Amino acid sequence: MENIIIRESSAKDAAQLLEYFKIVGGETENLTFGESGLPVTVEQEEAFLKNVHDEKTSVHLIACKNGEIIGDGGLTGLPRRMRHRAELGISVRKNYWNCGIGSKLMEELIKYAKENGIEILNLEVRSDNVSAIHLYEKYGFRHIGTSPAYFKTGDDYVDFELMFLDLR
Ligand SMILES: CC(C)(COP(=O)(O)OP(=O)(O)OC[C@H]1O[C@@H](n2cnc3c(N)ncnc32)[C@H](O)[C@@H]1OP(=O)(O)O)[C@@H](O)C(=O)NCCC(=O)NCCS
Repeated sequence: MENIIIRESSAKDAAQLLEYFKIVGGETENLTFGESGLPVTVEQEEAFLKNVHDEKTSVHLIACKNGEIIGDGGLTGLPRRMRHRAELGISVRKNYWNCGIGSKLMEELIKYAKENGIEILNLEVRSDNVSAIHLYEKYGFRHIGTSPAYFKTGDDYVDFELMFLDLR
């Protein structure tokens, strides 16, 4: 964790984040996108990050080393009768796996949730993503069930675990 800073992202990080998503998307089959990253413009990403910043039940964090983004994690708040819940997502550059960055991001996201009145965290994770499931279980996430055929890549279907953390 030497020289690694975890901070909230801002609209100024939009361009660098879109590049990060392309890199991390090419390094793993575990995310909803691949090496093309997210199909949004820098302006759209700027607007998205500003909204996340302004919305109390959402937050987006980045892990940076020497100015380069090497990990990210976020909570996406839900509206109306689901306002007590947020969806959690996390990723780290492959070169830095198993160095504790994912754990640090999880700790900061759970801290944010507790401080901002979020009561339930939900996430979905590939059933074969053992390191991520280990990480989530380490922070108290419980399995709700399995969602069959959640991803389809080519002709292959991939099941996902649905997990939640009750902070009440
Ligand atoms: C999942 C991910 C975020 C974890 O980040 P990370 O920085 O490597 O996380 P950490 O180093 O804090 O912790 C990894 C844990 O997994 C454990 N682990 C690693 N490989 C494992 C395996 N094959 N089986 C079980 N546990 C494993 C490590 O021992 C460590 O646990 P510990 O803290 O109890 O020692 C990272 O691997 C990643 O970005 N993967 C690709 C994207 C992804 O899968 N995101 C999640 C989508 S739901």
